[in-house]
Amino acid sequence: MLEGNNVNLRIVEKEDLPLVAEWENSLDYISGYNPLRQRSKADLERNYDKLGSDEKWFFIEKKDGSKIGFIEHIAVRGYCEIGYALLPSERGKGYCTEAVQIIVDYLFLTKDTVRIQAGTHVENTASQKILERIGFKREGLMRKEMFVWGKWTDGYLYSIIREEWKEPKILTKT
Ligand SMILES: CC(C)(COP(=O)(O)OP(=O)(O)OC[C@H]1O[C@@H](n2cnc3c(N)ncnc32)[C@H](O)[C@@H]1OP(=O)(O)O)[C@@H](O)C(=O)NCCC(=O)NCCS
Repeated sequence: MLEGNNVNLRIVEKEDLPLVAEWENSLDYISGYNPLRQRSKADLERNYDKLGSDEKWFFIEKKDGSKIGFIEHIAVRGYCEIGYALLPSERGKGYCTEAVQIIVDYLFLTKDTVRIQAGTHVENTASQKILERIGFKREGLMRKEMFVWGKWTDGYLYSIIREEWKEPKILTKT
């Protein structure tokens, strides 16, 4: 488990997939800025089984152990790409900013990666604020990048490179 100040990241086990499926199939959870993929437990199991050794799914948990969100890192052309979402009732409290900082610390501390990237819908201000607060830079506009709610929409690509990260902010040695 990766321990933060207000949240921890706990690895998703195969037996947790029904909960992940329940969240992913909920319109409120996915929000208006992401594709509404209806995924069965079997779909998720297939994706889970295909995860490479450099790819992981985590729950975002509060200190009392309650699961409030999901964060993942996947491999894209040798880089790490992250994605995340929180239960609607837990948004706006800074939990996701902390979870993203933890995963950035973890990836730069444990992998020889030079870059971590993330994409957001152009209107997803909350997600963009998280990335910018942590030091990600907006690299550019990806035109017609995602099919969301019946139309192709643009996305922003963000990244942080190792030199900008400099040192861990949360996962420090005690
Ligand atoms: C994106 C998401 C994870 C943000 O979670 P969150 O809990 O609101 O994040 P935080 O509390 O850490 O807040 C991040 C910042 O966004 C701001 N914010 C939150 N909701 C906002 C909104 N609807 N509009 C504008 N800004 C918003 C916060 O005030 C905060 O800004 P600050 O750093 O200046 O204080 C959450 O909205 C979510 O799960 N959305 C659905 C899934 C999703 O879009 N995932 C990201 C895909 S790229």
